[in-house]
Amino acid sequence: MAEYDYDLLVIGAGPGGYVAAIRGAQLGLKTACAEGRETLGGTCLNVGCIPSKALLHASEYFDAAANGAMASMGIKVTPELDLDTMQGQRKDAVKGLTGGIEFLFKKNKVDWLKGYAQFKDAHTVEVNGETKTAKNIVIATGSSVTPLPGVEVDNAGGVVVDSTGALELGKVPGKMVVIGGGVIGLELGSVWRRLGAEVTVVEYLDQLLPGMDGDVRKEAGKIFKKQGMTLKLKTKVTGVEVKDGAAKVTVEPAAGGDAEVLDADVVLVAIGRKPNTDGLGLDKIGLELNQRGQIETDHDFGTKVEGVWAIGDVIPGPMLAHKAEDEGIAVAENIAGLTGIVNHDVIPSVVYTQPEIAGVGLTEEAAKEKGKVKTSKFPMMANSRAKTNHEPDGFVKVIADAETDRVLGVWCIASVAGTMIAQVAQAMEFGATSEDIAYTCHAHPTHSEAIKEAAMGIQGKPIHT
Ligand code: FAD
Ligand code: NAI
Repeated sequence: MAEYDYDLLVIGAGPGGYVAAIRGAQLGLKTACAEGRETLGGTCLNVGCIPSKALLHASEYFDAAANGAMASMGIKVTPELDLDTMQGQRKDAVKGLTGGIEFLFKKNKVDWLKGYAQFKDAHTVEVNGETKTAKNIVIATGSSVTPLPGVEVDNAGGVVVDSTGALELGKVPGKMVVIGGGVIGLELGSVWRRLGAEVTVVEYLDQLLPGMDGDVRKEAGKIFKKQGMTLKLKTKVTGVEVKDGAAKVTVEPAAGGDAEVLDADVVLVAIGRKPNTDGLGLDKIGLELNQRGQIETDHDFGTKVEGVWAIGDVIPGPMLAHKAEDEGIAVAENIAGLTGIVNHDVIPSVVYTQPEIAGVGLTEEAAKEKGKVKTSKFPMMANSRAKTNHEPDGFVKVIADAETDRVLGVWCIASVAGTMIAQVAQAMEFGATSEDIAYTCHAHPTHSEAIKEAAMGIQGKPIHT
């Protein structure tokens, strides 16, 4: 009889966990994946990436019809919102994709252990009253919303909500206050603004989108203001009072000063996410967390405990689905005796607003801390396709090492920045210089030509500015 029930047991079926399980099974490991949710796919497929994009996409059409963008191209329509249908197509997208993972599990013979797993020892977990053993256990339990002390989220009540509640709203709020000017606040704030809400974003720092390049953060602020969002930067929330189905949000300058009360029909709390480790029984295996509550791993995604590995939002690094997926593939390969590697220096990030905001590699600020750099910016206004499509906002910025010309980072604000950034990630993965990008033939007319032109700028010779 085999020593263990499984070669590989993954805890959590988000993009990290389900990918690790499928890859492990593909590599011949007897694999199980424990998931406590009713459907597979984790945060991303159920309440994150996918449903938010379903609403972003649909609300973009509504906005184009409502804000005159379509009329300016000779299409006169007065849109009528059918929110039930819009929400229905969001649910359909989630159902289709989560069901797809269930199909892939069956196809690859991954056993889905339904329930929340808890360690008994380093090779044993209990799931729904049953004990299962495995030679290797991967923790891929993801993250959940960071609570704001003193502000109670009640998604069912629909007044003070987190991202999950903000996806489910049954009617467009008249006034929405978003606490946190990060990715979730701007994406979901954009959805409801496009559908008619008056949106105020309260951000503690002096700019939106911490972690992104400084120029991008400034430009993003201008664009969101132009779109009609009210931005209260350098401002903190000191209290939220809910009464008769509405809220009063008390804010004051971050540095201290006079308080102000904002009325809101819906308050979205989006101040970050924290790793899920409660109830896992990590004490049973002697695994400690770092100061940020994350599980530390080595380069191979192994933890300090032999046979226990960790990936995705629960370990350090950006909390992004594609990072979790790549780590899922790498950890399974390492467990199977291959060499699985993730290059954490080249992980693109995208904010799916309109225009989209995307970046990969270092910000200009971070690059300058490491040495001398050359930078070049090309405005989308000078890109023929963006201009033709009436999409003048944004730019592409390339940051290269001043001595070697190696590309260190690229940042884009453009309608299709999320798609454009892929070519840069690939170029950087291959160690490209800005000259390599400048001399790569880009199809015309495409938004991506702006990347080539920005790279040409580093060489001192852009054509169209
Ligand atoms: P998760 O997806 O969080 O999955 C972990 C799973 O583990 C969960 O299903 C949970 O139920 C399960 N679990 C936890 N504990 C246990 C246990 N003890 N036993 C069994 N199961 C357990 N990222 C992007 O890259 N692009 C986007 O567009 C994007 N949009 C987002 C929008 C929103 C609103 C949110 C909230 C997040 C978004 N993200 C996006 C982030 C992305 O969802 C996460 O980075 C990603 O889901 C992390 O994957 P993961 O596998 O580490 O964890
Ligand atoms: P975030 O970290 O992106 O932004 C949180 C914002 O809240 C920051 O700007 C922070 O300064 C601010 N903040 C913190 N405390 C505050 C307070 N008390 N008052 C006012 N502002 C405060 O976190 P967010 O938006 O919750 O997203 C969580 C994670 O989910 C992100 O790290 C991101 O990786 C992931 N995500 C990714 C998406 C994508 O890739 N498109 C979309 C949505 C989420």
